Amino acid sequence: MGILDKHKVIEKNATLLLIGSLLVVSIGGIVEIAPLFYIQNTIEDVEGMRPYSPLELTGREIYVREGCYVCHSQMIRPMRDEVERYGHYSLAAESMYDHPFQWGSKRTGPDLARVGGRYSDEWHIAHLNNPQSVVPESIMPKYGFLEDNLIDGKYIGDLLQAHKMVGVPYTEEMLDNAQADFMAQADPDSDYDDMLERYPKAQVRNFDGQEGISETDALVAYLQMLGTLVDFSTFTPDPDR
Ligand code: HEC
Repeated sequence: MGILDKHKVIEKNATLLLIGSLLVVSIGGIVEIAPLFYIQNTIEDVEGMRPYSPLELTGREIYVREGCYVCHSQMIRPMRDEVERYGHYSLAAESMYDHPFQWGSKRTGPDLARVGGRYSDEWHIAHLNNPQSVVPESIMPKYGFLEDNLIDGKYIGDLLQAHKMVGVPYTEEMLDNAQADFMAQADPDSDYDDMLERYPKAQVRNFDGQEGISETDALVAYLQMLGTLVDFSTFTPDPDR
């Protein structure tokens, strides 16, 4: 009896065929899924990545609340036109602390994954207050009202705690100092050294130039750090990690 004749047995018996198919599909599934339980991290470690500082995280909340993601993506694809326009393609690690992630595919406006440092704070303030004042053909809405909303950071510890619960590695020290760090980053006269130690590369200044910390301060702090944590002059992808 040839091998094809043996196969007839399976083809003629529905139960045997079902059991056989299940067996084959489960082997395929296990091969794909099982290794994920044994490797420590599915995202490669990239030097420079750290959780958002309290002020940046607040800015990010405002970004999400205002629905900026409806028009802006934050993911540079590894294609030449994108890389030439926006910079190095986005790494998985760059959004590992984003809950929820802001990748998106809708680009009514440009991708913002690396907008940090591209414009001055003054440009961002003018642009948020009235986009048409700096880009006459812009269809972006005005967000001037954010400047009038002052925040004292009273609940910022809770915000960090919430992000810790979904896996962002905020330490006890970071949680304890959340409000102080929040204030320090927006005040260049403060004692911000400890804050910088906890959040390297955090940019310290009064972003909107006005007294008090407004939602505009937080939003601009967030925009100005986007894509700036990884140093791409020294970064080399490591396929083994
Ligand atoms: C209705 C769609 C829309 C929404 C909503 C929107 N934008 Fe925009 N945005 C645009 C468009 C279009 C441009 C390009 C023209 C311009 O620079 O204004 C732009 C440009 C920008 C730029 C300049 C990017 C660059 O590289 O030149 C930034 C920064 C920006 N938006 C931030 C924001 C933020 C922050 C929010 C939420 C508070 C937001 N946008 C909401 C449409 C939108």
